[in-house]
Amino acid sequence: MPLTIDVITLFPRMLDGFLAESILGRGIGAKRLDVRVHDLREWTTDKHRTADDRPFGGGAGMVLKPEPVFAAMEQLQTPGCRRVYLTPDGEPLSPAIAEELSREEHVIFLSGHYEGIDQRIRDCVIDREISIGDYVLTNGTLAAAVVIDALSRFIPGVLGEEKSLTHESFTGKLLDFPQYTRPAEFRGMSVPEVLLSGDHRKIEDWRHAQRVEKTRKVRPDLLKQHQT
Ligand code: ADE
Repeated sequence: MPLTIDVITLFPRMLDGFLAESILGRGIGAKRLDVRVHDLREWTTDKHRTADDRPFGGGAGMVLKPEPVFAAMEQLQTPGCRRVYLTPDGEPLSPAIAEELSREEHVIFLSGHYEGIDQRIRDCVIDREISIGDYVLTNGTLAAAVVIDALSRFIPGVLGEEKSLTHESFTGKLLDFPQYTRPAEFRGMSVPEVLLSGDHRKIEDWRHAQRVEKTRKVRPDLLKQHQT
């Protein structure tokens, strides 16, 4: 049975390219992932299709109203589904979270305004809040695409080659080693000798050393975790 994903957003067209061009669009993932995108305004009831309003207590910006979101959730949710709100103050996305979500049967993503959403939505119709990083996007729609892309890679058969997952960054908390392909010589730059040697032991050692070096330079915090 495919994983069913609903995305509720004020900007549904932001996902057009993602759905058309990613693994989903190529049909590879389509059998295992069923992604449906919904315009939150479809659950508004006034003629202006109002989905947000000014915050009680004052302050800048607009806040997503509870009524359309509750109505959307009540229509879309199924028993046992996970309702995820994308927000910069959520728990940081990790491979573990992506994998957990990939094992669900039904996930609903709610993309909010960057200014915020009515707290009653978070209290009543959201199970989990996820951030994709310590920066603020104008809304959570691209963040939903990022989470969907990340979780899709944990669904068996979605990645072309099973091998890919084990070799990549973060699985062992070390960054990846450099890759080369043909030609062996390009504009005066040669591929490291060891990769042409055919000596798999030596290649493994070289790659490991490269991963440690790259991690030390770019993400020393990961190296500390790796050693402990
Ligand atoms: N919405 C706005 N910024 C976000 C972020 N960094 N992560 C998830 N959702 C967001």
